[in-house]
Amino acid sequence: MMSGPVLVDADPGIDDALALQYLVAAGELDLKAITAVAGNTPLPKALANARGLAALLEIEQDVPVYGGCPKPLMRKLETAEYVHGDNGMAGAALPKPRVAERDEHAVHVINQLSYRYAGELTIVAIGPLTNVAAALTLDPSLARRVRRLVFMGGAVNVPGNTPPGVAEFNIHVDPEAARIVVESGMPFTMVGLDATEQSVLTRKYLENLDGASAQTSFTCEVLDHYLAVYKRSRGREACALHDPLAVAVAADPGWVELETGNLYVETQGKYTSGKTSFVSQASRQRKKLPGLDPQLAVGQVALGLAREDFAEHFVATLAARAPRP
Ligand code: BDR
Ligand code: CA
Repeated sequence: MMSGPVLVDADPGIDDALALQYLVAAGELDLKAITAVAGNTPLPKALANARGLAALLEIEQDVPVYGGCPKPLMRKLETAEYVHGDNGMAGAALPKPRVAERDEHAVHVINQLSYRYAGELTIVAIGPLTNVAAALTLDPSLARRVRRLVFMGGAVNVPGNTPPGVAEFNIHVDPEAARIVVESGMPFTMVGLDATEQSVLTRKYLENLDGASAQTSFTCEVLDHYLAVYKRSRGREACALHDPLAVAVAADPGWVELETGNLYVETQGKYTSGKTSFVSQASRQRKKLPGLDPQLAVGQVALGLAREDFAEHFVATLAARAPRP
């Protein structure tokens, strides 16, 4: 189990919202700040959603929310309203924030918190890695002060979820940022589609979540939309809990099968831009190849689930925390 101060960098986003709900309900991580980044929606909506979520989850007095980069480092922003709805929240309404919008830029806040909690801070990044890369560019020593970055992104042995089916969305949106981050020397754990597409929630789980509180009725509403999107695009009402799994791994790496190795993020290929390739230490040993290349990105990658019960655990956690009206 890992604990200690945590910053969540997100592009809310339905599953980002579910991830924050899960984090608060599980109560295992000490959330110090939420930083918003452009991704699933343009930044103004991502920030508004993050602030509305903090209000819904009743954490806005304790957990400040900051806006970050409005576009990827070098590319035009590609968003995913076709999955997350026009407002990024499946059309669901969030409560109005009661605290004023913060002036500080997310990128500065990431660096500031890394000084305040040097050696202790975990960053959980569940959107494109633009904010983290920008923070590293301003202050490369950030890499040494972060205890671990757990990020949702990438696909190693499975197809990507953006056309032409090679790259995963968060890396596809800002591959240059992902490359800067993984090559920075910051200790990282990548939780990509190899694991998250196996952590699947079906409609039957919704029976355990009633709409009795504002929080669970929000959960039911966004999951209803998310399941319908999966049904339309993949023919089955079974949605992947991408971002919640990354939060769970930050608290307990035992949810996934982790291997250590070299991670390569492709930034230039015509078809492969945003692709993540991974060569594990174990596979090199099996083939009697030389060890890892320490000059290149070395980190942990989740290659699958270690447990089968994540969706069950996720719903049970949310149901147990839901305040009664
Ligand atoms: C990732 O892409 C986004 O649409 C989701 O929020 C998640 O972070 C999955 O590929
Ligand atoms: Ca996300």
